[in-house]
Amino acid sequence: MGSSIGVGLIGLGTVGSGVVRLLRDAPAAMQRRQHLDLQLRRIAVADPAKKRAVDVAADLLTANAMDVVDDPDVQLVVELSGAAGAREWIAAGLERGKDVVTANKAVLAQHGEELFGLALANGVDLMFEASVAGGIPIIRSLRSGLVANEVESLYGILNGTTNYILTRMTRREGGYREILADAQEKGFAEPDPSMDVSGMDAAQKLAILCRIAFHTTGTGEDVYCEGIEQVDTLDIEYARELGFTIKLLAIAKRGPGGVQARVHPAMLPSESLLANIHDEFNAIEVVGSSVGTQVFSGRGAGQMPTASAVVADMVELAERKISGAGSAGGDMILDDGAASLADMSELEIRYYLRLLVEDRPGVLESITHIVAQGDISIASVIQKERDLQGGTVPLIIVTHEARERSMRQAVAAMNELDGVHEEVTVIRMEKL
Ligand code: HSE
Repeated sequence: MGSSIGVGLIGLGTVGSGVVRLLRDAPAAMQRRQHLDLQLRRIAVADPAKKRAVDVAADLLTANAMDVVDDPDVQLVVELSGAAGAREWIAAGLERGKDVVTANKAVLAQHGEELFGLALANGVDLMFEASVAGGIPIIRSLRSGLVANEVESLYGILNGTTNYILTRMTRREGGYREILADAQEKGFAEPDPSMDVSGMDAAQKLAILCRIAFHTTGTGEDVYCEGIEQVDTLDIEYARELGFTIKLLAIAKRGPGGVQARVHPAMLPSESLLANIHDEFNAIEVVGSSVGTQVFSGRGAGQMPTASAVVADMVELAERKISGAGSAGGDMILDDGAASLADMSELEIRYYLRLLVEDRPGVLESITHIVAQGDISIASVIQKERDLQGGTVPLIIVTHEARERSMRQAVAAMNELDGVHEEVTVIRMEKL
């Protein structure tokens, strides 16, 4: 076998086929890597009889993922199935002393502690560059390129589907439901887009980045999460008038009460870099203590960008194995050094509020009274023209920095007022 590394693939869907293509075509940069010889030895697929997008020898195929994990000629397991058994197969590969590459963010966000521990205990590595932001090498950058930094903050657009929808809403191409339906029809959004639009996909990715950058063990469920379902084109227009653009942001920062980790629609100054990341693109702005601000942007999904990240991990693991280097995953084990996630209610930030109010004396006073009681200072109030049919008008309030807990109480009280129609819309405003 010489110095060749036997590869076993679990899953030959879109990304798996991209990986097979890259191994076959081996770009020049890979060919120049001396001794690198990755040999595909086994592939698990749900249906071995199905016609494939790439040609693979029929005798490589099996319907049983454990055949891949157990194959003595496989030293490197690449799990790209997205199937329910993924955690078990990854764990089994590590327990058998095999290096593992996965793109499965849900498994890593939920079971990272256990799986990274298993890798270390077995002297192997679990790599996962493709799990966050597709082709952007953000994991590698945080783990090695920026290792000489304390990460101070991280702002990301980590979900392509929601960025695509918000971009088209910002271009005045329609409302949320209409654009989502169109995106589904064109195959740009999943038939079940709930993980994307609810923000949970981004929250899982943020949990993984937080483990590396801030040494937290929280899962996707521990990240405060709001999706884009309630974003209205009215808010996009009012944001534009104020000089802001609405994006679904994944934010992690150090604060007095621990590490803040949150995913929610946010207003960004329209001239900021992240406000200008359009369509399905992803981006991450990292502030490091030594390096200052760095911005990474690119394709966060899709066949070849994701395969590019998977193959980068495979090459690194193969070279490490060939050179006899041991496991390098110690940095992913937190033990007693784990930091805690901060309580969201302690957040201090500026807020944009949109209310639909009756246009009559005393309504504005009752609203400002509630705001003042919460010790919240108003930066500006804009009342739009009277809607002659309903007698109601949109009222926009922008606050100075206020505490999340106070703002929630104030909004709950506003929602109880007679003169306020519809639920108050609240959008946090980021400085950047
Ligand atoms: N569904 C994700 C997105 C890609 O829209 O960005 C995979 O993480």
